[in-house]
Amino acid sequence: MKVGVLISGRGSNLKSLLDACATPGFPAQIVTVISNRPGAGGLDHARAAGVAAETIDHKGFDGREAFETAVTAALEAAGVELLCLAGFMRVVSAGFVRHWQGRMINIHPSLLPLFPGLDTHARALAAGVRLHGCSVHYVNEEVDGGPIIGQAAVPVLPGDDPDSLAARVLTAEHRLYPACLRLVAEGKVRFQGGKAEISGKFDPSARIFNPPAEA
Ligand code: GAR
Repeated sequence: MKVGVLISGRGSNLKSLLDACATPGFPAQIVTVISNRPGAGGLDHARAAGVAAETIDHKGFDGREAFETAVTAALEAAGVELLCLAGFMRVVSAGFVRHWQGRMINIHPSLLPLFPGLDTHARALAAGVRLHGCSVHYVNEEVDGGPIIGQAAVPVLPGDDPDSLAARVLTAEHRLYPACLRLVAEGKVRFQGGKAEISGKFDPSARIFNPPAEA
């Protein structure tokens, strides 16, 4: 499956996808990376992996839709079949969502539907949750609202601040996103009743307790 990745910044999730795609037999190939911000660190990860990388600066366009039309044209010129948002910090328009419906996924740093939007780690700490994490989901017209493909949970620990919690979540993101991309590329995800149904191996005894449960 030919994949395009949209980024805005350092691109550590992009790097995890590039690394996964470089492993033998991985069912997806990243064919292009586009940043809306000039100088985004992730562009270097793409080039180091031999993947085409370009900047399409949203500031150079008269409005969101003109920018998105240029992005879609570049993605389609590269033959992109699936679009991965990886730290792409622009809200996308309804028209863009419709165009890429069922073919666009995103990673978000919270256990959705908790904490859509920004500052998820500070908000998780303020809410006092004991488990936090990340989600990979299809993109729909609601911000951070589409059908969830996969989630990873991490504990919130005493003394955490937004940075320490973000770092713990990020290590989970780097495992979750490639795993979900694999499922999608293998055709193991399908829509049913507004949800993403997945087939794969599951561990019915998997649990995370925080604080640890005493026997
Ligand atoms: C990641 O934590 C990602 O989940 C988040 O931005 C960070 C990008 O880091 N995305 C969002 O908040 C989107 N709503 P990265 O550039 O190192 O991958």
